[in-house]
Amino acid sequence: MSELLSGWKRSCYCTELKKADVGREVTLMGWTNVRRDLGALIFVQLRDRSGLMQIVFDSSTLSAEDYERASTIRSEFVLAVRGRLVERTGNMVNPNMETGEVEVLVSEFKILSKSETPPIEVDDNCNANELLRLKYRYLDLRRPCMQRNLIMRHKIAHIARNYFDEQGFYEIETPLLTASTPEGARDYLVPSRVHAGGFYALPQSPQLFKQLLMVSGYDRYMQIARCFRDEDLRADRQPDFTQIDMELSFVEADDVMAVNEGFLQRLFKETLNVDVRLPLPRLTWIEAMNRYGSDKPDTRFAMELCDLSSAVKNCGFSVFKNAIEGGGSVRCINAKGASAHISRKEIDALGEWVKTYRAKGLAWINYKAEGIVSPIAKFLTEDEMNEIKRLANAETGDILFIVADNNDTVWASLGNLRLRVAEKLNLIPKNQYNLLWVTEFPLLEWSEEDERFVAKHHPFTMPMDEDLDKLDSDPGAVRAKAYDIVLNGVEIGGGSIRIHSSVLQEKMFKVLGFTKEQAWKRFGFLLEAFKYGTPPHGGLAYGLDRLAMLICETQNIRDVIAFPKVQSAACPLTGAPYGVDKKQLDELHIRCVTEEE
Ligand code: AMO
Ligand code: AMP
Repeated sequence: MSELLSGWKRSCYCTELKKADVGREVTLMGWTNVRRDLGALIFVQLRDRSGLMQIVFDSSTLSAEDYERASTIRSEFVLAVRGRLVERTGNMVNPNMETGEVEVLVSEFKILSKSETPPIEVDDNCNANELLRLKYRYLDLRRPCMQRNLIMRHKIAHIARNYFDEQGFYEIETPLLTASTPEGARDYLVPSRVHAGGFYALPQSPQLFKQLLMVSGYDRYMQIARCFRDEDLRADRQPDFTQIDMELSFVEADDVMAVNEGFLQRLFKETLNVDVRLPLPRLTWIEAMNRYGSDKPDTRFAMELCDLSSAVKNCGFSVFKNAIEGGGSVRCINAKGASAHISRKEIDALGEWVKTYRAKGLAWINYKAEGIVSPIAKFLTEDEMNEIKRLANAETGDILFIVADNNDTVWASLGNLRLRVAEKLNLIPKNQYNLLWVTEFPLLEWSEEDERFVAKHHPFTMPMDEDLDKLDSDPGAVRAKAYDIVLNGVEIGGGSIRIHSSVLQEKMFKVLGFTKEQAWKRFGFLLEAFKYGTPPHGGLAYGLDRLAMLICETQNIRDVIAFPKVQSAACPLTGAPYGVDKKQLDELHIRCVTEEE
């Protein structure tokens, strides 16, 4: 039977007790982590959210009845224990335990709740598969490493609230049942019961509302905001996730960046005790692409891309020549010293792998000690080979990996290859936090699928002043007042200065292929609002989950979310999404096609 607290109060958490507290009478409450029964003594490791404490049940001091009760304690039983803190001596000291120098000698205890044998081990070394861990998430979350992650996440949110409050930002909530806020993903829709055939969209971000708050004169807004995006999940994406969202008025890009640099400096100091030096480095988008093949470059190691086009523009290898003539380029990365570490078989495998980034092939030059080995050497003159070597700064022992194609394909394939080779060669230093801004993004991106321009950031982003006149003549060349903040190759946040004129905003919708009627139907409330006095404004949003993931040093976004979804966007714990009663659907004026079939 579960016992009741009956007035017992916990005196402290386990790890609050130190050697100096020896002799104190304490009351602890928590879960049975490990139990050892030595016959006349029973040792239990009691676990609470702070950590562990060894508890001793001694048959010579407890009544026979109590000792009998103590012998029924099993893993994950919930206990309340009263007793005296005593010192452990000699080889009883456990140097691997925070509280290893002390233990509690039990005088009274209650078994508040029993537990069946848990389906997963509540231990940092638990090797249960993730699906099982997520099904029993409440047990998984008892593990110290998960508790550390969620506590760190709390800390990050707390620092954000404090910092932005000190900087004069107000936290204001925006609705979850709303109209579509386009950020490039599909919406999650919620059917309306009252308005037959009507749907709310869950927000992909608070974007439009925070801009309206600027129109309303709140000047500085922040929110820890839930966002919903129906997109293909990856290791760093969730269908519902959280942003640290902010917006401010009467500012330019530099002002937004400066206030956020202050936040990042504070955040890294208070979470990891890492000193971030300001101002943060900045790369323009084109520089990031040319040097790293990525708009979220990992700058913890070099291996930068090198343009070989000048060396091979007239060469005898038609693949190279054609790529350049078609407006593309021939570029390489130099994997320094890779000759000794990457086999011919692995090179061929990399050649297959880059095809996922649409490269048609991967040429390479291996500068082996015994001579150059390369499938393309036969197409090139000695001068051309020498010029390649010079441009790529190649030496004996290096391997050049070369891709010829349109620039997008060259960047994507070499940018990703760079990361892969760096991992293979162990080039990525640990405990280094490279924060940088990527600026001057293209405003628009051509979508082959839709055969029109789409916004690279979102449709509310302001074009750069010097490119404004190209909006009609050459929209693809217009750069935006947009900036992403990147940490170790992960985009942790992004933002922009916004359009604050309804005329320019209407024009932007036109460039994106909306008719005037379509634009007003969907975004009329915003276009209308902009007519009544709109301050210049801009802002940024961080992915809180991604920030937490990097600060907690995990590769998996699910490790920093209490109840995350799996790849298929399902929740293994609750079973969502699930079918609902016909009655419920009827009320919502919805018929399910799959059921009719
Ligand atoms: P953006 O779409 O770049 O900008 O999102 C901002 C940040 O949110 C994080 N993020 C995600 N994290 C987890 N799972 C996802 N599915 C996911 N999608 C995005 C990323 C990203 O950098 N309204 C604008 C911000 C602004 O302009 O102020 C916006 O939402 O870390
Ligand atoms: P081939 O003579 O066609 O076998 O090509 C010689 C080498 O060029 C092979 O290693 C191919 O992988 C490589 N290659 C083919 N197309 C490209 C390309 N677009 N960019 C870089 N290398 C390529």
